[in-house]
Amino acid sequence: MLEEMFNPNSIAVVGASNNREKIGNILVRNIKTSYRGKLYPINLKEPEIEGLKAYSSLKEIGSKVDLVIISVPREAVVDVMMEAGEAGTRAAVIITSGFREVDEKGKELELKIMEVAKKYSIRFLGPNTMGFITPSFNATFAYEDVKQGNIAIVAQSGGMGAYMLDWAEKTKTGLSYFVSLGNQTDLNEIDIFHFLADDLNTKAIFSYIEGVADGERFLAEVPDITAKKPVVFIKGGTGKYGAMAVQTHTGSIAGSIELFRAAVKTVGGILVDNLDDFLNLVAIIQSDEKFLSDILVVTNSGGHGVLTTDEIERQSLSLINLTDSMKTELRKILPDQSTPKNPLDLSGDASGERFMMAMDLIKGLECTKIVLVQELATVSCVEVAKVLAKFKGRKIVGVMMGKDSESALRILSSAGIPGYNFPEDAVKAIKHIVNVRPPVKKIRISEPVKGSLDFIKGKSTLSDEFSFKLMSLYGIRVPEWDIVSTLDEAKSFCNKIGYPVVMKVSSDQPIHKTEIGGVIMNIDESNLESSFKTLISKMGKVMIQKQLNGVEVFLGGLNDASFGPSILTGPGGIYVEVLKSISYGLVPISENEALEMMTESKVLSLLQARKRNYDVDATIRAITGMSRMIEDLGIKEMDINPLIVTQDDAYAVDIRIVL
Ligand code: COA
Repeated sequence: MLEEMFNPNSIAVVGASNNREKIGNILVRNIKTSYRGKLYPINLKEPEIEGLKAYSSLKEIGSKVDLVIISVPREAVVDVMMEAGEAGTRAAVIITSGFREVDEKGKELELKIMEVAKKYSIRFLGPNTMGFITPSFNATFAYEDVKQGNIAIVAQSGGMGAYMLDWAEKTKTGLSYFVSLGNQTDLNEIDIFHFLADDLNTKAIFSYIEGVADGERFLAEVPDITAKKPVVFIKGGTGKYGAMAVQTHTGSIAGSIELFRAAVKTVGGILVDNLDDFLNLVAIIQSDEKFLSDILVVTNSGGHGVLTTDEIERQSLSLINLTDSMKTELRKILPDQSTPKNPLDLSGDASGERFMMAMDLIKGLECTKIVLVQELATVSCVEVAKVLAKFKGRKIVGVMMGKDSESALRILSSAGIPGYNFPEDAVKAIKHIVNVRPPVKKIRISEPVKGSLDFIKGKSTLSDEFSFKLMSLYGIRVPEWDIVSTLDEAKSFCNKIGYPVVMKVSSDQPIHKTEIGGVIMNIDESNLESSFKTLISKMGKVMIQKQLNGVEVFLGGLNDASFGPSILTGPGGIYVEVLKSISYGLVPISENEALEMMTESKVLSLLQARKRNYDVDATIRAITGMSRMIEDLGIKEMDINPLIVTQDDAYAVDIRIVL
């Protein structure tokens, strides 16, 4: 679909100029020096631009132009698009800015552009874009002399795009494509990803993104792209979750970056925090090796070995244990004072030859090998790099530390082995690549459980009574409960369920009960009356529950503007906003995903700590039940806090729902 845009037989630049300061001139020069097809500068009065015959309009050319690049003031863009459509053009780039990002007038003009594009079936990039670079031409107004390569960059912001081009130039990262998306009025990142996924010059897609325009499409289509090649994201604008009524814990905890992280994980992409991590991934992606999270560190410096293993632990990767037979073999090549273990210290007197012998022994181990050399009198980085170059295909990552490290890294790079200057960079790159999940397509079907819609009809929030009743429809257990308004009712219910009990103020609105002193625990016959009187004076209704002992877990749900229904979980109770150890997942959540979220947020460790065996399966059921509930009922925001997990079940004891 984008063939005419990225591989055109002819290009016209409308707004071309002889003034070398103007964007219309820089575009013509950049294209002229790189492009082999026909180039038509369009200018209202000039007969010639940069040595090329100029035309006063697209019509004057007299034949169809494949790609029209528009760099005229905003008021003229709609007319140029119409003219392009009449002349049969189906691909355009609108460099001009000053549209919806500026004012109402701009918004109107942008809508008109879209109308014209639809009428003539023109697909366009922008407006407000820097343009794009392909392996055969540069259609941007950037000066950068980009090195050819196989990494594609797709950037939502023009400024950030320019910065990334600069970065690519400085770090000598070779690019296949660079695409600045601009306002994405028509083509957005997903359209460009599809093109790049099938492009043979592109090995991986690196994308700077600020927001996802169409979250449903992102979730549905990006899995097909990551199945073909790695897609790495860096996100700008990592602030708080915006469009949320903060009536629940979920509202005050949720962050937009975490939801985006969950979405990227779901679609099988990689999210990095900064450009350094971006760059570190380039080498590891180029190598085509299947790295593993189990690592053996080989070095000639004990201190560096420790630093590396510290980072491995920080990034939740693991160190392998060497077998006894491997240790016996290694002892034969190590000096007497050295003990073979992981990290494997070949000792400060290790020569290139000792590295060679060690590599020969460990090459077949099913793990990633980080080989770190500190240049010493006995060995240089280049010597070790030459050794490592003989072991391509053995899951090796080199870390070269010394005066000759740049030459050593070049040797590794031409051998297809990823190389780094610092162990932390190597470990982080391995972490990112081994943590990629197989893409999952979220198929959402809303099939409300029978009777559930009756609970929510015409309401914007749910009372305690309705919330508790709704839980059972979705398989989430609640403790025995009742809502009472007289002391007699309270006594009779307590006698029925037995002591101890918990009393809470009961409200028709979601409230944080603990914060207003509305929860009293450990109630038996002796303090029943006083507790009841304290609470009934606050809200007029009291909820009584059987008191449970167990681990407190937080479950949150929200309906995100981009990614739709999502679930949060973490350690619960009053610590939820303090600890912020929260994992995010997109609905529908499978049992495996629920378990993964529990592991990530440390809920699983809490349930299994000191062999207490709290009910993991029941917690999974509660998460998947809540996933279904918010999908079915379109719930805007909810929390179950806490879900008390006992040794034989999990109970929602406090529930807040905003519809
Ligand atoms: N057809 C053909 N040529 C036209 C034209 C039309 N309809 N309308 C104007 N032109 C010519 C002008 O005569 C001028 O040529 P000249 O230098 O020979 O006089 C040239 O096109 C450019 O027009 P001009 O009015 O001088 O505008 P400009 O170059 O100052 O600015 C833009 C035009 C598009 C660059 C400017 O409006 C803009 O949007 N700048 C920001 C771009 C940007 O930052 N984009 C996003 C980056 S992320």
